[in-house]
Amino acid sequence: MEEMTLRTTIQVAQLSELSETDRQLIDMAIEGTNRSYAPYSHFHVGAALMLKNGKMFIGCNQENAAFPAGLCAERSAIFAAGAQYPEEPVVTLAITARNSKGELIDEPASPCGTCRQVIIETETRFKQPVRILLYGRKHTYVINGIKELMPLSFTEF
Ligand code: THU
Repeated sequence: MEEMTLRTTIQVAQLSELSETDRQLIDMAIEGTNRSYAPYSHFHVGAALMLKNGKMFIGCNQENAAFPAGLCAERSAIFAAGAQYPEEPVVTLAITARNSKGELIDEPASPCGTCRQVIIETETRFKQPVRILLYGRKHTYVINGIKELMPLSFTEF
C-alpha cells in the first residue's frame, strides 16, 4: 500500500503585515462579533467578506432556541452577499470571534465543516479561490483557498 501525505500551507501574519483592505475586513469581522446573536453558546462569531466588485458584507452567527435553526457567521455573510450580488465572486473572507467573557479570541478560530463545504461551493461556482483570514489577537492565519483546510473535498460531479 502507498501512503499519501497531504500538506496544508498557512501564512501566520501580524496585522502590520496585512494590506489595508485585509485589516478593514478584519475590523468588519470584529464588528460582526458585536452584532452576533448568540444567547445560547455565548460564542460570538463575526465574518466579513469582500466581493470582486469591492462590496463588503458583514456576517455573524444567529442562534435559535431550536438549535439547528441557527446559522454560522461565515454562511450568514456568504448568503447575504449572494442574495445581493449573485454573480460576484468572493475574494476574501475574514473570520474572528469573541468568547463568553466578551474578549476577542487569542488564537484564530477555524470555520466548521458545513461552512467549509459552503466555501468550497463558492469557489467552485466562481472558479476562483476564496482567501481566508482567521484573526486572533496573537496572529492572523492567511489561507489561500479553502482547499488548504479541506483537502479531498466533495464538489460538483
Ligand atoms: N459558529 C460560527 O458562527 N462559525 C463557525 O465556523 C463555527 C461555529 C457559531 C455557531 C454557534 O452559534 C456558535 O458558533 C457556537 O458553536
